[in-house]
Amino acid sequence: MSQPANPRSRPARGTGSILVTGATGMLGRALCARLAASKTRFRALVRVHSNRDLLSGTGAWMAEGDLLRPSSLIAPLEDVRLVLHLAGSLRGPDYSVHVEGTRNLLVAVASSARIVAISSDTVLRTHRSAYAESKAEMEALLAADPHEAVVLRPPMILGPGSPHLASLERAARLPVVPIPPSGRKGPVWVGDVADAVLAAAELDELPDGPIGLPGELQPLDALIKAVAEANNWRIPRTVSVPRKALTGAARLLGSLQSRPLLDLERLDGLAEEVRLDPRRARELLRWDPKPLREVLRLCYSSSDQNPT
Ligand SMILES: NC(=O)c1ccc[n+]([C@@H]2O[C@H](COP(=O)([O-])OP(=O)(O)OC[C@H]3O[C@@H](n4cnc5c(N)ncnc54)[C@H](OP(=O)(O)O)[C@@H]3O)[C@@H](O)[C@H]2O)c1
Repeated sequence: MSQPANPRSRPARGTGSILVTGATGMLGRALCARLAASKTRFRALVRVHSNRDLLSGTGAWMAEGDLLRPSSLIAPLEDVRLVLHLAGSLRGPDYSVHVEGTRNLLVAVASSARIVAISSDTVLRTHRSAYAESKAEMEALLAADPHEAVVLRPPMILGPGSPHLASLERAARLPVVPIPPSGRKGPVWVGDVADAVLAAAELDELPDGPIGLPGELQPLDALIKAVAEANNWRIPRTVSVPRKALTGAARLLGSLQSRPLLDLERLDGLAEEVRLDPRRARELLRWDPKPLREVLRLCYSSSDQNPT
């Protein structure tokens, strides 16, 4: 695997005209594995402290840059015709990579380049978290920009190393799980999302607006039980907790802690069910996501670095 000694050095010949941002992330690793399998030459945008070992074996040219440092993007974007823009921050509190990072990318990339960007289904919520607001702002930037852009809106993505899977596992380990008011969730397999990104890159015509990537909708308690079952753990009992009780607990915790564990903004988001239209992804991208049982089977049988 090649690495530039100087991050501002010109990319070597033959490193391809595709740049993947967020390559070291959960989705990025699945995407890079696919590009490697099809022997596609590409560059992976990595930060100084990114764990480059996560991309070993993909043949990616490591192009050092940070989306929040505009000057660092010039060399990685040289001659790039396609950006697969997956970089993001799930946990905050700083979501500037979605807005400032995307703005810097749009300034630095050639006007003829296409961008496939990963947003989130949370932009459709009426109670938007700071994360969802930043993704909505990113979408608005892309919509107002003259570059060709295809925006994808996945819901919760599951795969090896997924923080959502870790949360579900923590809940599934409890003997009794309190369930707050929650809409159904439609998690998707990380490899299916990577396939959608590649299909979006190949579209002949730009779609009219973002494309949702919905998975099989399940109530939260069923999801937690399915995780327990997939691990052969004892199936936990679930009890619904009314919002009123949670509000009281949140107020109490808020008065006791500077950063309370129980965040009402998140709970409001959880309560809402986001409906994504499955037909557009099916028709435009020929996308056929795996059902939950299969998603979980793959989560526990795939290797972290090469999700199938
Ligand atoms: N995971 C989900 O359930 C989910 C659901 C819906 C949408 N999404 C979106 O899907 C995308 C991929 O998610 P993921 O789960 O793969 O995320 P992830 O595992 O947290 O990876 C995030 C990636 O973004 C890179 N990154 C962050 N800040 C950057 C910056 N300033 N400059 C360059 N690179 C930067 C990280 O690089 P380092 O290695 O250097 O940290 C890492 O490669 C994100 O945009 C996320 O918002 C995720």
